[in-house]
Amino acid sequence: MIEPFAAVEIIAAKRDRNELTDPQIDWTIDAYTRGVIADEQMSALLMAILLNGMNSREISRWTNAMINSGERMNWSSLDRPTTDKHSTGGVGDKITLPLAPLVAACGGAVPQLSGRGLGHTGGTLDKLESIPGWRASLTNAEMLKVLQDTGAVICAAGAGLAPADKKLYALRDVTATVEAIPLIASSIMSKKIAEGTSALVLDVKTGSGAFMSDPKRASELAHTMVQLGLDAGVKMRALVTAMDVPLGLTAGNALEVRESVEVLAGGGPADVVELTILLAREMIDAAGIKGKDPADALRDGSAMDHWRRMIIAQGGNPDAPLPVAKNQYVINATESGTMTKMDAMAVGVSAWRLGAGRSKQGEKVQAGAGIEMHAKPGDYLRAGEKVMTLHTDEPERFERALEALVGAVEIIEGGVVNRLPLVIERIEG
Ligand code: URA
Repeated sequence: MIEPFAAVEIIAAKRDRNELTDPQIDWTIDAYTRGVIADEQMSALLMAILLNGMNSREISRWTNAMINSGERMNWSSLDRPTTDKHSTGGVGDKITLPLAPLVAACGGAVPQLSGRGLGHTGGTLDKLESIPGWRASLTNAEMLKVLQDTGAVICAAGAGLAPADKKLYALRDVTATVEAIPLIASSIMSKKIAEGTSALVLDVKTGSGAFMSDPKRASELAHTMVQLGLDAGVKMRALVTAMDVPLGLTAGNALEVRESVEVLAGGGPADVVELTILLAREMIDAAGIKGKDPADALRDGSAMDHWRRMIIAQGGNPDAPLPVAKNQYVINATESGTMTKMDAMAVGVSAWRLGAGRSKQGEKVQAGAGIEMHAKPGDYLRAGEKVMTLHTDEPERFERALEALVGAVEIIEGGVVNRLPLVIERIEG
């Protein structure tokens, strides 16, 4: 086959701040997926994109080319509208777990293809895999059946979905090019558009525990992704939300499942409940579902019913006891006062070091490991009261986990809390 372009021309064009044409973009993604463009050439192009950017036409075309590198799911046989959520990830962000069954209980179909965690934020599949028997890998036919029968499916994305992104993401990870907004937006949206949802709500996190710690960049990312979804005919909403403090009172796989079940039972921490309901309202509204209030579905038990059906449909036992780590270490307050700070990144890194997360792909995670928080910013503690409990199966991990928490929490008599509001920005497409 005679190739219509040479990779060096395309690298040079972006290096010299020129726009790439549609045929150049289509060829670049296709040729890289076929192995015609070498990793070192793609690395140079990615760095040129990081430094010189792409305009909205280029980002949209790049996203489409990544979608076209693989299959596109189709849910048109369902009798309910599809609607999904994507979060850019944060510490204690277990919202997908109560949210998917909650939206199913309100009449939506949630086809969530999810990932495993890498680094300090946990992955939804790792959390669900702490439920005895639960299975993340489903065939497309099984996915459709679970979605039809229960209204929600959360499972691993198959190899056929946006394969160009899998290759590019691995390369970006080792070439310091993950941070480019055009590359992040196209990576996330190519997978979500290929997933075939007709409505999508983005939860773009900002603050110390988010990978977009600067709110301005988080807002730019949210706007870019909303536009990509609209270009592809997806009904879009986005919330930019706070990740300066962990969400809820747990970070770690089984601990987060337990908290999610508390929310589905009508309890749970206020911030988790509030964000779950807000996102559910956006998802059902974007899907055109009228006359349902997600708060009612939490109160009347219907969201819990959907959760149980969803877990059972994927082989899990919702009544089985969740794994508990073998060892615990309690951190107590050394003085009395108001908690003014709990740094999300520090808690995330500490939970990861306890064994809740992995440092390289394919590594096993501990189901019971993580951190339970007994207080959050704004709470008053007396000296000696519990601040956190650390959980792990391997007690030798406590030392490094405690190191990560040095300076993470402040307790000051008469102290004033200064934190980000839960929702910083709302974007409607
Ligand atoms: N998540 C993704 O899927 N892709 C990115 O580029 C960043 C986060």
